[in-house]
Amino acid sequence: MKIIVISPNKVLKEEILHSLKSADAARYSLVFDDGLNDLWQVTADEDPDLIIIDGLCVEGGGLCALENICLRYPDVSVIILSENASTEFLMAAMRSGVKDVLSLPLQISDLQAAVNRVDLKLKQTVPKSKKGKVIAFVGSKGGSGATFLACNLAYILAETSKAKVALLDLNLQFGDAVLFVNDHVPSNTLADVAKNIKRLDASLLSSSMVSILPNFSVLAAPEDAESAQDVRPEHIDALLKLTISQYDFVLIDIGRTLNATSVKALDHTDIIFIVLQETLPFIRDSKRLLHALQSLGYAKEKVKLVLNRYEKGGDIRLVDVETALDMKVFKTIPNSYQAVSASVNQGVPIIQIAKSDPVTKALQEVAENLVEGAKAKKSSWLDSLLHHASLF
Ligand SMILES: Nc1ncnc2c1ncn2[C@@H]1O[C@H](COP(=O)(O)OP(=O)(O)OP(=O)(O)O)[C@@H](O)[C@H]1O
Ligand SMILES: [Mg+2]
Repeated sequence: MKIIVISPNKVLKEEILHSLKSADAARYSLVFDDGLNDLWQVTADEDPDLIIIDGLCVEGGGLCALENICLRYPDVSVIILSENASTEFLMAAMRSGVKDVLSLPLQISDLQAAVNRVDLKLKQTVPKSKKGKVIAFVGSKGGSGATFLACNLAYILAETSKAKVALLDLNLQFGDAVLFVNDHVPSNTLADVAKNIKRLDASLLSSSMVSILPNFSVLAAPEDAESAQDVRPEHIDALLKLTISQYDFVLIDIGRTLNATSVKALDHTDIIFIVLQETLPFIRDSKRLLHALQSLGYAKEKVKLVLNRYEKGGDIRLVDVETALDMKVFKTIPNSYQAVSASVNQGVPIIQIAKSDPVTKALQEVAENLVEGAKAKKSSWLDSLLHHASLF
């Protein structure tokens, strides 16, 4: 359970830490803060289950801020710790959505009982729906670098932000994504998820994935063509819905073919990255792919070009690619044969073996862009809510 503790009082914070950790250290993850000022930001960033707040912080109008938090995040429980709480204060606290008011000095058993009540409520409720951002990688031709980019962007996103990231390898015929970030063959794949689709839930999903980092997992593609036949479009629909509810970013390696299964996945995407290189065959196939995506009804703004293995001074210039495809290139990824080959051959993410390689840097920039985009989406919601609140 994730808990934010808010108090300017160091001793009280220590007491809370001690009493919760002594109850069951592994169950709680605690974040500490000194006051109410940045409560919106901390709540948005940390996504807590419980906020424990010192009554001192809510004196003089603070209950109003708490009420807004309770309204915006109905799944978050709030406990106030207060010295000599009056009946009026208790009533106002309960009306603002606070779950419990405990007396100070703190009785450890009272706090543990209150936290256990929240824990019980959490276990009885359906998991929160996260609505993760879905980003698909489609190679315009074989060997474009789509898998390498999808895997390494996913890894960098997870490593550099606190986001929960999933990579789904939906390349049914040639799927090899898991081997780009991990050096052994997985025991479960997408085919196992498809076979057990009727009992697919968050725990089956996570146990079918290979965990690469605590916040990054990969669902491997079926190991052969025979087991790939078990995967049907309706399975992809169910898989995507569940994954989106569990992860902040869902990256998908689509492979290079558009079929009923990959189109089902594309239906859920926020961004479709088309990966190409600076040669005529890639440009030709990108044109076909863009046309196909347009006929399938995907919005133009959703589709973005990633020009991989880019080198200045080639026969075909960046501007030629853009003119031929009538579209700006979203990002160029430099050519870096040695570092990329080492990463691919060892099954180790490029950031681990070549931190300052230009390819690593370019992927870090894409990751930052995605994280900023997700934050901006959250805060524009916040801005409009605060603006709305200020009208009253
Ligand atoms: N920026 C880069 N610089 C140098 N080499 C690269 C770069 N990106 C990819 N490569 C090389 O290209 C090869 C093919 O990459 P990858 O397997 O990711 O392509 P793909 O589009 O997924 O291919 P497939 O269509 O077979 O799935 C990799 O083995 C890697 O060595
Ligand atoms: Mg591939």
